[in-house]
Amino acid sequence: MKLIVTGATGLVGSEVIRLALRNPAVTSVVAVARKPVLPPANAGPEADTSKLQSVLVEDWTAPYPESVIQHIKDADACIWALAITPTRSQGMDFAHVTVVCSDYTINGLAIMAALANKPFRFIYTSGVTIERDQTKSLQFLSEYRLMRGRVENAILDYAKQHQALGVEVTVAKPGGIEAPNRTAIISDAMKAMLDAFGHTPTVHLSELAAAMIDQSLNGISKDPLWGEDLVQIGQRVLRKEDYLV
Ligand SMILES: NC(=O)c1ccc[n+]([C@@H]2O[C@H](COP(=O)([O-])OP(=O)(O)OC[C@H]3O[C@@H](n4cnc5c(N)ncnc54)[C@H](OP(=O)(O)O)[C@@H]3O)[C@@H](O)[C@H]2O)c1
Repeated sequence: MKLIVTGATGLVGSEVIRLALRNPAVTSVVAVARKPVLPPANAGPEADTSKLQSVLVEDWTAPYPESVIQHIKDADACIWALAITPTRSQGMDFAHVTVVCSDYTINGLAIMAALANKPFRFIYTSGVTIERDQTKSLQFLSEYRLMRGRVENAILDYAKQHQALGVEVTVAKPGGIEAPNRTAIISDAMKAMLDAFGHTPTVHLSELAAAMIDQSLNGISKDPLWGEDLVQIGQRVLRKEDYLV
């Protein structure tokens, strides 16, 4: 499988890259980013780092240049982990945040799908707090959560309208993400807030990444993928030695 990964310099995307390089069923990994992506130092001896290609995009709202097209064509799947997260969005111009979270994603999906193999599976990383129902009034981060919900709706609509291209979309909606070096970030108050959404509130970073790779390889089982789905799939496919330590 040829897999495109965006957001590969970030928390989620870098773990997707690490696990994809260790997975023999993934034959090619194309990291599309605004800065070079190197094989992670912690990939381990089982990783085939020769599978990784790093491709730079400057303008994510325009047609990608031919040099990028040559690398991303004939892909089987994309794991999209590029976004400005709620925390990082604080204090940023909301119009810019919207362009990055929304326009970049929708443009990227359309370009990749037109060049891809069939089926083309697009796994979008979002979050449990993100709201698709635009009629809801939300207590916190309302503008951001509804905007990301519109992105989810738009890419799901895209898949429906482009069935002839073989486009399949699902959205991963984890709550908090646990990783060996960041467990302290998820406070009890945060866990309680996430719990109120009615889904498994946290997922291990490796389980999230492995679950999205599994959906890319073996087919999309459902939409959305809530925390409990991601934990269940991740635990099923990960070996002990594959977990980030
Ligand atoms: N972290 C969590 O606890 C958490 C929980 C639930 C859901 N999520 C969701 O998971 C997804 C990934 O989150 P993350 O924690 O991995 O985020 P992150 O560590 O902040 O990484 C974000 C990625 O997006 C890229 N990006 C941001 N702005 C960009 C721009 N203007 N142009 C090009 N690339 C840009 C970053 O590239 P640069 O390195 O070049 O900036 C980076 O690769 C997001 O949708 C987030 O909402 C995260």
